[in-house]
Amino acid sequence: MSTGIDIWGKFIPLAEWGPLVDEYLRDPAKGPIINVAPPEVDDRPYDAIFIGGGAAGRFGSAFLKARGGRQLVIDKWPFLGGSCPHEACVPHHVFSEAARMLDYARLMSNRYWCEDFENVKKRASILEIRDGFLQSRGAGHGVMNFQSKEQLNMEYILNAEARVIDKNTVEAAGRIFKCRNLVLAIGARPTPPPIPGVDKHGVVNFASMLHPDVLDFEPNRCVIVGGGKTAIEYGSFFQATGCQTTILTRSQLMRTKGLKHVDEDMRRWVEDAMKRRGMEIIDNVEPVEILGNSHATGVRYRNMTTGEEFTAEGDMIFLGTGERPLSDQFDVLGLELDEKGHIIVDATMQTSVPGVYACGDMIPGPREMFKARKSGVTAARNIMGEYTEYVYEEFPDFLHSTYEVVWTGLSEEEARQQYSNVVTIKLPPDGVRREDCALPVGDGSMFFALEGMGENGLLKSVIDGDSRKILGLQFVAFGVRNAFQYLDYLMQKMPGGFTADQLADVNELFLNEGYPQLHRLRVGGPLRDL
Ligand SMILES: Cc1cc2nc3c(=O)[nH]c(=O)nc-3n(C[C@H](O)[C@H](O)[C@H](O)COP(=O)(O)OP(=O)(O)OC[C@H]3O[C@@H](n4cnc5c(N)ncnc54)[C@H](O)[C@@H]3O)c2cc1C
Ligand SMILES: NC(=O)c1ccc[n+]([C@@H]2O[C@H](COP(=O)([O-])OP(=O)(O)OC[C@H]3O[C@@H](n4cnc5c(N)ncnc54)[C@H](OP(=O)(O)O)[C@@H]3O)[C@@H](O)[C@H]2O)c1
Repeated sequence: MSTGIDIWGKFIPLAEWGPLVDEYLRDPAKGPIINVAPPEVDDRPYDAIFIGGGAAGRFGSAFLKARGGRQLVIDKWPFLGGSCPHEACVPHHVFSEAARMLDYARLMSNRYWCEDFENVKKRASILEIRDGFLQSRGAGHGVMNFQSKEQLNMEYILNAEARVIDKNTVEAAGRIFKCRNLVLAIGARPTPPPIPGVDKHGVVNFASMLHPDVLDFEPNRCVIVGGGKTAIEYGSFFQATGCQTTILTRSQLMRTKGLKHVDEDMRRWVEDAMKRRGMEIIDNVEPVEILGNSHATGVRYRNMTTGEEFTAEGDMIFLGTGERPLSDQFDVLGLELDEKGHIIVDATMQTSVPGVYACGDMIPGPREMFKARKSGVTAARNIMGEYTEYVYEEFPDFLHSTYEVVWTGLSEEEARQQYSNVVTIKLPPDGVRREDCALPVGDGSMFFALEGMGENGLLKSVIDGDSRKILGLQFVAFGVRNAFQYLDYLMQKMPGGFTADQLADVNELFLNEGYPQLHRLRVGGPLRDL
């Protein structure tokens, strides 16, 4: 391995960072990229070394630096930002945007200005879209490296694995670094489930499908194992491209344990819309074996009630079976772990070993960016002497099918278990067929309404009729995800909760999906279902 490059004090223009990262990704043996202050510039011991510079480690580092502390972040990839921009959220959003546009291309096929997609074009290439993402990926990584160095003044070592020697000593790039605190933030990785045949050619997951030497053929038929967000998002994308897709799932779709507060109306709407687009969704089944010789040809699966076995054919088998935290890399520290391998932390993000913190996907709870970033920042605050607790029990949540699916607060069923006077406001309303209701409608669904296909989506709020507090909100369509961040904040933080009357008082930027105006129709008197 080469000794790498020392970039301390050297300005690398943003335009040069993208190609540089790509070069290192092609040839990791180029050695470390070192941006560490020499002793004549800063000889303080590190307040914290962050191992892993993903969402958790980078945000924690930036915060600690901003508070006047000294930090070092070490990452084995040649960029900061972690798995989100490299192989998780960002490609997922690229694929989900493609799925949405392809869904529209089919709806609009041979109509208005659109070509006859259904009969002439028929398919989009998964490989072409994947390769388009890969071509632009380095530029995004470059921004993280540039921003962290030039704007946030962080010290970092990239393209180098960190090895923890003890809680105050880390080895990386052939050097030893001492620190007062350690922050562990190396995330989680997909681990192959124990299904015979998982190592056959054609079996991929969200990370491996990005490697041109792994997914090196255009799939024609896909079988997905799993029923969580990844399965739904990637399955919807594959189907939208024209690659016939079957989902095999143990729990019902969206009913895996990791997903909370999923409303049954919303869940059913999502699943039915996927089926209307031709996907096959088979639940209550478990995989038995991946079939084929060297290349996978399908999955043999078993009905979990009857024990009967069936085969789903496919030339690409996509494993959406989840991830495992990489905590075993820190065995030397003797940390307390849960049964799934997460590092146990208290509300300050400190582990069972004083002075060692953990954050992001390594700790229990939702594996989402907000938690990664906020847990990293919480560790930094506490290290800098600002006692802070972070409890991430309640949060807004979302996924993509060909739609945005967003929810926060209680589902209707949960609300009815806890409150005696639950009122709902829904579109389409109860008792009305989806095909007969042109609403909800807003940016992104206008042409669904024009075509009158009942594909507009679903909108629902769940309210306590006595206190008038909004208990839950669910939404399937487009353009409301950002609003849900703030609605969730108001629902959690407003003293006494956020009421239907307050939501009705919002100055809506009409035309939008209709939460404020619908609530306004009901605020004059006692709340009733609408
Ligand atoms: C398919 C998919 C789509 C997703 N989409 C979304 C989304 O839309 N929105 C959302 O909020 N969340 C999404 N997530 C979740 C989100 O990606 C994670 O919660 C987040 O990236 C976790 O950040 P982290 O910092 O904990 O870990 P990571 O980002 O994984 O960072 C860990 C870092 O540690 C480094 N590392 C590993 N080992 C070592 C070592 N020995 N030495 C040094 N460095 C090391 C790695 O190189 C990596 O950079 C998605 C997840 C998946 C799988
Ligand atoms: N915000 C986003 O849009 C987004 C997108 C993707 C991922 N993420 C996050 O990333 C994390 C991972 O999501 P994920 O969907 O990949 O995983 P997940 O939520 O852990 O779901 C895993 C799925 O695989 C199934 N499964 C696991 N092992 C299996 C086996 N051996 N055989 C058959 N089925 C098996 C599970 O079934 P059971 O339910 O029956 O156990 C479940 O349906 C989540 O925390 C998620 O929130 C976020």
